[in-house]
Amino acid sequence: VPVYLDHNATTPLHPQVLEAMMPLLSGPPANGSSVHRYGRAARGALDRAREQVAALIGAEPGEIIFTSGGTESNNLALLGQTAGQTPGRLALSRIEHESVLQPSLWLAEHGWTIDLIDVDSHGRVTTEHLRAALHADTRLTAVMLANNQTGVLQDVAALAELNAERGVPLHCDAAQAAGKIPVDFRALGVQTMTLSAHKLYGPQGVGALVVDKRVELAPLLRGGGQERGLRSGTHNLAGIVGFGAAAQLAADELARREHHLRRLRDALEQRLSELPSVVVFGQAAARLPNTVQFAVRGFAGETLLMQLDREGFAVSSGSACHSGVNEPSHVLAAMGVPTELALGAVRVSLGIDNTDNEVQSFADALRKVIGRIPAAVALLADA
Ligand SMILES: Cc1ncc(COP(=O)(O)O)c(C=O)c1O
Repeated sequence: VPVYLDHNATTPLHPQVLEAMMPLLSGPPANGSSVHRYGRAARGALDRAREQVAALIGAEPGEIIFTSGGTESNNLALLGQTAGQTPGRLALSRIEHESVLQPSLWLAEHGWTIDLIDVDSHGRVTTEHLRAALHADTRLTAVMLANNQTGVLQDVAALAELNAERGVPLHCDAAQAAGKIPVDFRALGVQTMTLSAHKLYGPQGVGALVVDKRVELAPLLRGGGQERGLRSGTHNLAGIVGFGAAAQLAADELARREHHLRRLRDALEQRLSELPSVVVFGQAAARLPNTVQFAVRGFAGETLLMQLDREGFAVSSGSACHSGVNEPSHVLAAMGVPTELALGAVRVSLGIDNTDNEVQSFADALRKVIGRIPAAVALLADA
């Protein structure tokens, strides 16, 4: 079996999460909207999961809106807060995930003006960058907490303070941060925050939007009125219970996980530093403990990915592959990384089950792959 080093894409389901979900998958039917005892049991399970998720990020249970995942949460935050308003300006960082960028582009087609917030060469949004993107009629801003490609963290609390002075709400996509580093909804001072269960050893297809009580939000889905009318539809109860269990485990094990991941990450970067042709992106910035995005000068990322796959390592790149044409990552482009180098991006995202041995053998395999293919050929192979 290949060594899985792609945990920012998705994490395996934790055995204890599966255990928590099993009674809901194989047990009696349970709809939280029903009056009978099965319904009551479902409501109890929902309440508990809501408390567990809220506790992970220091929010009130009443501030958690369960959704189908990070993508829906980001859409709800952006489209739900702008709905019904006369179009104004929306500011978002250049390095946001597609699930923030795409709904913003849709808003742009419907009269909104989008101001893209720059980042510095390390991938950080400074308060100066944010200030430059804010205008008198800016209605909403979005800055993610941790970038999925580079792992670079933003000083969201400082940005939220600047927003607060102007009374502009800040949406924060914390899908990659939650479960890897401490995240405190209150301390960050943001108005809405996105979470996704499958980034923290929970199931796919479930997430949450954390919504400050003062935020006015219109639903994307209307119907039975679940989730305070903000997200109608019968709950994905097993998924939500799994999310709750995963959040509880993440909270309980956070310090241990963070320490383990950072140790492995540092060992990997030590080995990478011995390869003169390797460049690590965002290395000078505060980053997630599990993520290393790098490029090997002269090598196309896709070539490295395929070769590493052959050697038994599952990693990802940073560039999106659209209809066979490689495009450099918009995140690296925003950081001013030259296109040739950005096309060489490889992302390693470690998980709690990875070992020292796996990291060392990955570094050995990379060295072998680089030594085997002359760089010019590696580039050609990808053309
Ligand atoms: C930063 C970020 N936001 C949002 C998402 C989307 O989450 P989901 O896969 O739950 O829709 C992802 C996952 O790819 C992500 O990395």
